[in-house]
Amino acid sequence: MGERFDDDRKETITEEQKAARWDAIHSRVTNVEKIRQQYDGWLETDERLAKQLEQCKTPILDLGCGIGIDTLHLVENGHRVIACDFSTEALNQVKQNIPNEKVKVLKFNMKEKFPFGSELFEFIIANKSIHYFSEKETKNLIHELYRILKTNGIFAFVVNSTNDSNFGAGQGKMLEENFYEVRGTTKRFFDEESLKNFFDNEHWEFIYMKEDEIQGDRIKTIQLQNNSDNNKKITWTCMVRKK
Ligand SMILES: C[S@@+](CC[C@H](N)C(=O)[O-])C[C@H]1O[C@@H](n2cnc3c(N)ncnc32)[C@H](O)[C@@H]1O
Repeated sequence: MGERFDDDRKETITEEQKAARWDAIHSRVTNVEKIRQQYDGWLETDERLAKQLEQCKTPILDLGCGIGIDTLHLVENGHRVIACDFSTEALNQVKQNIPNEKVKVLKFNMKEKFPFGSELFEFIIANKSIHYFSEKETKNLIHELYRILKTNGIFAFVVNSTNDSNFGAGQGKMLEENFYEVRGTTKRFFDEESLKNFFDNEHWEFIYMKEDEIQGDRIKTIQLQNNSDNNKKITWTCMVRKK
């Protein structure tokens, strides 16, 4: 998958710069009420996902948790959560606003080996946090997910779609097919074929995949209808099962 490019197509942004960018975004003062209001219901939109979640009694990993929008929702529904991010400010917000014994925070970069033993988790989520990586890094990350999930464990995630209006020509520097350096960060966009290649049939079963349009920030997610508006954010919401 993916054509390789010359050296001038190499990434120029360091991991420190990327984390600092997220620190700046997450350092805006917030509170638990504002965090709660931003939850968009994605974990309940599909019956199968909601059911799997309800049945999960072990701690859930929230990868790239940000200020803890999903973490808060999960905790308020009785789950234990390990909220992970590489932004110190994000994790500070989680600690400050969700001081609950059911929440643990953990700082690590998803580009590296995950700091967990094998076959520990039944349920992992990543809401708009695994679309920042090169093909090789994405493959490594998915390999790590596979390693730490139990057999039949679920990974539920939301990623940028290639139908996103931010996708394509003129949007920064193309580093690889569907992978760009843009405005101080890197962004990957997925289509159905690339998702099915990354989460290959030998190791994963797709329980569902759905392309959605997000209106506004992340308040409302609706079924994709057309792609004519320039300000649309189009994402895939997916649930895969480790075979
Ligand atoms: C768009 S935000 C999503 C936050 C949260 N999941 C939500 O839905 O509100 C992406 C998050 O991924 C985190 N992130 C980006 N790259 C990361 C990396 N390499 N390792 C760990 N976290 C990362 C960012 O710090 C940020 O909090």
